[in-house]
Amino acid sequence: MALIHLDRVSKRYPSAAEQPVPPALEHVNLEIQPGEFVAIMGPSGSGKSTLMNILGCLDSPSDGHYELNGRDVTTLSSDELAKVRNETIGFVFQGFNLLKRVSAVDNAALPLLYSGIGTKERRQRATEVLEATGLGRYAHSLPNQMSGGQQQRVAIARALITHPRLILADEPTGNLDTQTSREIMELFQRLHREQGITIVLVTHENDIAAYAQRLIRVVDGHVVHDGAVTT
Ligand SMILES: Nc1ncnc2c1ncn2[C@@H]1O[C@H](COP(=O)(O)OP(=O)(O)OP(=O)(O)O)[C@@H](O)[C@H]1O
Ligand SMILES: [Mg+2]
Repeated sequence: MALIHLDRVSKRYPSAAEQPVPPALEHVNLEIQPGEFVAIMGPSGSGKSTLMNILGCLDSPSDGHYELNGRDVTTLSSDELAKVRNETIGFVFQGFNLLKRVSAVDNAALPLLYSGIGTKERRQRATEVLEATGLGRYAHSLPNQMSGGQQQRVAIARALITHPRLILADEPTGNLDTQTSREIMELFQRLHREQGITIVLVTHENDIAAYAQRLIRVVDGHVVHDGAVTT
């Protein structure tokens, strides 16, 4: 069974101006199988983040259907969506989105805060995921005591702590230099290979997309290429 199945998904945002704006996504059909590593590319404003927000159940389509793991999530309430997100998906963003005054271990443990798991086990699990991302030594550092690459590793550890089947990463190397980007992509590749996690990642860079197995190109809200990574 496909992990992600989009059936003619469209997204229209309300227009601030008088004139209607074209939809951010239109009639997108997409299937992603468990264990795939997919890159999404396309010009600025083409609808990549809109697509990621829908895949991540952070926003819902205006039209069409989305099945995640065999379940139609189009009709779920916001509470039910929050539960699906928490159980299934880990998010990684361009700007890391870490809490500034909180150590790496507590940042990584954050998704478990409302899970009823006690402090000791939360810290234990956070330490494990930090070690898995190569950051064991920085467990007690604050974000501003870490490099960009290290902060992104903390964010990846935070995404991993709930053991998600799916990681969604929107330009995860957008704020990083070339060498650090490579290290982060090698980490994604290792998680994909060793743990079979499905990864969907947005990037503007061909050499970042080259780490994936499948490339989806979006232009003006339409999927215009879906297949091999051709960079
Ligand atoms: N919350 C919103 N309200 C209204 N319009 C929006 C909203 N978010 C995005 N849009 C519009 O939808 C279209 C697609 O935006 P989206 O953020 O998905 O593009 P993108 O491909 O991620 O671009 P970038 O590469 O710059 O991040 C754009 O025309 C944008 O202006
Ligand atoms: Mg975007």
